Amino acid sequence: MMNILEIIAKKRDKKELSKQEIEYFVNEYTKGNITDHQASALIMAIYINGMNDREITDLSIAMAYSGEVLDLSCFGENVVDKHSTGGVGDKVSIILLPIIASLGVPVAKMSGRGLGFTGGTVDKMESIPGYNTSVGIEDFISDVKKVGISMIGQTMNLAPADKKMYALRDSIACVENIPLIASSIMSKKIASGANKIVLDVTVGKGAFMKNKENAEKLAKQMIKIGELAKKEVKCVLTKMDEPLGYSVGNSLEVIEAIKFLKGDMPEDLKEVVFELGSYMLKLAGKGDNIEENKKMMLKNIENGKAYSKFKEMVRNQGGNIEYLENTDMFEKSKYIMPVKAEGTGYVRELNAEEIGKLSCFLGAGRVRKEDKINQNAGIILNKKVGDEVKTQDILAYICTDDEEKIDEAQNRILQIYKIGKNQIAKSSIIIEVI
Ligand code: URA
Repeated sequence: MMNILEIIAKKRDKKELSKQEIEYFVNEYTKGNITDHQASALIMAIYINGMNDREITDLSIAMAYSGEVLDLSCFGENVVDKHSTGGVGDKVSIILLPIIASLGVPVAKMSGRGLGFTGGTVDKMESIPGYNTSVGIEDFISDVKKVGISMIGQTMNLAPADKKMYALRDSIACVENIPLIASSIMSKKIASGANKIVLDVTVGKGAFMKNKENAEKLAKQMIKIGELAKKEVKCVLTKMDEPLGYSVGNSLEVIEAIKFLKGDMPEDLKEVVFELGSYMLKLAGKGDNIEENKKMMLKNIENGKAYSKFKEMVRNQGGNIEYLENTDMFEKSKYIMPVKAEGTGYVRELNAEEIGKLSCFLGAGRVRKEDKINQNAGIILNKKVGDEVKTQDILAYICTDDEEKIDEAQNRILQIYKIGKNQIAKSSIIIEVI
């Protein structure tokens, strides 16, 4: 008979866990037979002492099979999925997936909630009034059949172990860790049934992997898990030093995504969306030429088909599409306060992690796993790295319902924006494809 105390002690003492021990932990924690504080101790021990490749793979598979594993072969032999290792201002899925679906590739996407200082697609989508992210498996599949796309959160039945561990990690400072991230992402991807997966592996100040070496390690780990689970995995390493696009915060990011789908495309966001998308199209068998694939995507932005697909999905899942047609309808924070530059020069640095933490402080993220988030809180950037700034120019707006937070938030913005004398060249946001 296995005993959770022995398993915790083993990892605490830097020993290797067997497949049976990992499965026991995952299954019993999912069922509620292991408490949150015991799971916290084991997760912290994994965070500190690590896991070898075999343990990470066993953890991913056990988490994937903690619930149902979907069979999407009814959609053909190339079912493509996408996931990001997390970022700040990362609304890529909300933009990219409708574009891909508008090109005839079925999209069955299961996303997560905010984690640490990063946002989550499910929290963002829920800022569209009425949009239902907790869809049962049968409806999920029939929605994909009917509309060509569905974006949902984890139901009780899809990788429930990840759902619990993800929320727990978020509340015990155990997020940025290769074994835990790799197993979290790959368990969801295995459970949600796609056989081809494009992963956005973010690198930099606003990512969980702060340098390229660790990001490559994480990418290779996920590719290896994919091989064992017979999934083709492509990883695109992208820079996440400053936030992606101009908005950070749930409804603020949805508004930016809607505007993108209508043709208003910030350069950095466009680069990431098009790079990931062109690899998704390639894996889906829609074309081997990456540049041609990007052109197909652009065409469907310009002719409105991508936006129409998004609208169709939102309507199908109960969302009020009037908000898409007129984004001014989204509720606004009580206080939207500009922060003005105190000097002249060029923006040299805009630390995405700091912006992400500030956005959480304003109400956009959680401190405890049961916390409610504020859908409208966050930050709208007005200047980004490389931009010229003159005294009194608006650097950013802070959005909050909490008057008491305004002074501190304004001061933090002034600290986060590093202004230098020299203009710095903007470089590509795509680092490499593995
Ligand atoms: N995204 C996930 O789904 N899980 C993680 O652990 C990090 C990012």
